[in-house]
Amino acid sequence: MSAKYASIKTSEVPGPKSVELGKMRERLIAKGVGIVAPVYIEKAEGSLLSDIDGNVFIDMGSGIGVTNIGHRPAEVEAAIKTQAEKFIHTCFQVTPYESYLRVAEKIAKVAPGSGLTKSVLFNAGAEAVENSVKISRHYNKRAAAFSFNHGFHGRTMMALALTAKEMPYKAGYGPLPETYKVEFAYCYRCPFNMTYPSCEVACADKIDETWSSPQFEGKVSSLIGEPIAGEGGFIVPPKEFYPKVSKICKKHGVVYIDDEIQTGAGRTGKMWCVEHWPGTEPDILVSGKGIGGGFPLSATTGRPEIMDAPQVGGLGGTFGGNPVACSAALAQMEIIERSMGNVSKINSYMVKRLEELHQRFPTIGEVRGVGAMMALELVSDPKTKEPAVKETGAIKNAALKKGLLILTCGTYNNVIRMHPSIIMPQDILEESMDILEQSVEEVLKV
Ligand SMILES: Cc1ncc(COP(=O)(O)O)c(C=O)c1O
Repeated sequence: MSAKYASIKTSEVPGPKSVELGKMRERLIAKGVGIVAPVYIEKAEGSLLSDIDGNVFIDMGSGIGVTNIGHRPAEVEAAIKTQAEKFIHTCFQVTPYESYLRVAEKIAKVAPGSGLTKSVLFNAGAEAVENSVKISRHYNKRAAAFSFNHGFHGRTMMALALTAKEMPYKAGYGPLPETYKVEFAYCYRCPFNMTYPSCEVACADKIDETWSSPQFEGKVSSLIGEPIAGEGGFIVPPKEFYPKVSKICKKHGVVYIDDEIQTGAGRTGKMWCVEHWPGTEPDILVSGKGIGGGFPLSATTGRPEIMDAPQVGGLGGTFGGNPVACSAALAQMEIIERSMGNVSKINSYMVKRLEELHQRFPTIGEVRGVGAMMALELVSDPKTKEPAVKETGAIKNAALKKGLLILTCGTYNNVIRMHPSIIMPQDILEESMDILEQSVEEVLKV
């Protein structure tokens, strides 16, 4: 079949103009900023990215799960322009404006569980994470901050401490603030060598045991968890896991922080991923990425008694809840709400195509994901589950050369992840899966 959307005009990818800018980048940008696909973008529209060499890529990365309804939706663009013609910045803490309140109102209305009614707005996801821990400590006057193995929560000091993966995120940055880890329900690689469902999700019970120990009893302030461990490898826990975790948090007076920065804003077919697991009752929601319509916007939202614990002036920041970002968010959230119904169609088609690949290639150890958040975990041997790191990178590179942008992730660097726009048209989705199939065939040689 011939590609209708992806279009590669240059003999090499990246093309010559991108290579030139790549040299400039080496001179001017710190090498710690890694780049997935060194093609310099000139224009983006819907699910397509056009680079400065005239190549067009289908975007399955969405700027790491941000452009949930595609690039430059008309309503979001219009909202940005309208706001930019009025004012761009005042700082909410100096002279406030209505759109900040409207974003908080919207999040309170759609927040998961019950009673999460007060917010503070920030820019990056990491800021929302940092503040969720600060606020929790202020509220319950306890110190210990917990997170899960395989979790990712950002790159600032506390967010980094809560993040699990050493290389490349944490190595060399110590000492980091003191935090503690508990095991996540990574059933494909169960840390307790158990099998679901006969394990009865014992990994959640272990948290209860840890917090009942003399070391931690009465000392744990918060537990932060991603509904699906995103950077950790799109690890989906069993449906019983989070309802249990949320009950255990309640039992111990621990603030349960739901990190929906990657999984939220309609990505999984519900506004927040934990809504897939009734009985899960977060005390604080942290959101970012997809809520801002491509603008930097994040939020920490929680129960009023928790959110109101810090003193006046104890929360904020110069740019948090920027008016243009708030206008973009309000327009975008509306489109997300009316588009979430489309996610099950995207999911069914992707699951079908990815499962076909799984059947054909033993190197594909597991297909997993929820909604428009799907992944393949690659292993060199399905029995030993040795991570197939080289093949994972090679498939990503082969796909890019054919005009498909996919991302990789995983604690073991062996997961291909895809987060398409939740309104990606069916024919573009089909073409993306065709290119992925060709790339897998090319690398795994069948
Ligand atoms: C689950 C999760 N939390 C927090 C963050 C940090 O967000 P940001 O990069 O906007 O600081 C990320 C970013 O990838 C994320 O996926």
